[in-house]
Amino acid sequence: MTRISLTVDGSLVSDDVEPRMLLVQYLREKLGKTGTVIGCDTSNCGACTVHLNGRSVKSCNVLAVQADGAEVLTIEGLVTDGELHPVQEAFRECHGLQCGFCTPGMIMQSIDLLNENPSPTEEEIRLGLEGNLCRCTGYHNIVKAVQHASAQGGAQ
Ligand code: FES
Ligand code: FES
Repeated sequence: MTRISLTVDGSLVSDDVEPRMLLVQYLREKLGKTGTVIGCDTSNCGACTVHLNGRSVKSCNVLAVQADGAEVLTIEGLVTDGELHPVQEAFRECHGLQCGFCTPGMIMQSIDLLNENPSPTEEEIRLGLEGNLCRCTGYHNIVKAVQHASAQGGAQ
């Protein structure tokens, strides 16, 4: 077991973890943050996307011990004072989801995209989300949601 300490959604947490434990397992199984989901075992789907020190990562591709000392933000840390994050609001407004399984990862990736490029073109949005798969929507309304969030002032 290895001792790790990190900040998750604004709270400092410390735990003993097995060195082989994935960050996504740690978030879900140790912290109960089941908003971050597992959609594959091949690192392809992006459903597990969170922010690690401000940048998006696939949390199934990161060991929990690699997050020692880091700041992690999950979909569950986005709501402030009961208000949806602007990108969550844009997905709601533009119907950017159906079953919702891909949505936590899509939103975390979209925020990272908008932080890097507040006014992306449609092509840049599609490129920025290419690591996140959706089986339901055909992506059209997801792209519209990101464009809407951009028009509303980006990810802030
Ligand atoms: S669970 Fe599919 S990329 Fe992480
Ligand atoms: S909304 Fe169902 S997988 Fe994207």
